[in-house]
Amino acid sequence: MEIVVTTTHSQKGLSTELIKFLDETNFSFVQRENSSIKNIQEKHKAGAVIVWHKDGPVLHLEGKKFYYHPSMAKNRISLYRKKGIIDPLIKACKLSDGDKFLDCTLGLGADALVVTYFNSQGQTISLESSQIIATIVKWGMKLYTSELIWLDEAIKRIEVINSNYLTYLSLLADKSFDIIYFDPMFRNPLLKSEPLTPLRLLANHSPLSLEAIAEATRVARKRVVVKELARSGEFNRLGIKNFVSSPNNKIAFGIIDLE
Ligand SMILES: C[S@@+](CC[C@H](N)C(=O)[O-])C[C@H]1O[C@@H](n2cnc3c(N)ncnc32)[C@H](O)[C@@H]1O
Repeated sequence: MEIVVTTTHSQKGLSTELIKFLDETNFSFVQRENSSIKNIQEKHKAGAVIVWHKDGPVLHLEGKKFYYHPSMAKNRISLYRKKGIIDPLIKACKLSDGDKFLDCTLGLGADALVVTYFNSQGQTISLESSQIIATIVKWGMKLYTSELIWLDEAIKRIEVINSNYLTYLSLLADKSFDIIYFDPMFRNPLLKSEPLTPLRLLANHSPLSLEAIAEATRVARKRVVVKELARSGEFNRLGIKNFVSSPNNKIAFGIIDLE
């Protein structure tokens, strides 16, 4: 898909960060010149337009916006900070502070952020096969700032890499990460509104393969964890026998314990 980059109406010139972004992505830059997004898209025959804001890029696609925001993860971390409730993902991963964590499916980076918050001495690497999702989320994470030091500090520690997890895993040595996590796109979206989200339009929808599970089992030292709809049949297909879910939650975590 052809993507062009422009600025907001009020921006004058190209900021240093925008120049770095253009260098890294090779997307073409077009002057805003008081044009609407629709006009820019039509004039340059672009499939999508990225508008550069000083707090991160915003992708305009099919009349919808896609940009990085930590809202869901922030709520999950706040539950712990305010009420001491530990996120189910942290429990499923049996995360210890200092762990080396490989998140194979970045998406909007909510799970990566929750893990990174609980892993202040460790490392999180997040993989994403969609170049556009990886780019928007990586640069959004880089430029996002809030009043909350604990949130900003965790976001900045996530390392985003644009790669297919199978390619990346195959290059890793045995037992080189503590925990490996997969959250593939659900076969059937949970919410009726979900088919319309830009993430669903841009994401890689391939199912998790047995080969990827075998590679992750080779590369992980402690656990491989898979998020899925409890009744999807995916755990059965992937040979994962141990999983945790709560009765009032449709989502479950499949666990391959290697210790
Ligand atoms: C359900 S989303 C992940 C959501 C994420 N856990 C979060 O908290 O925001 C799945 C993401 O994994 C990506 N993905 C799917 N298959 C992949 C693969 N083989 N390699 C890397 N990323 C992949 C999709 O493009 C999508 O962005």
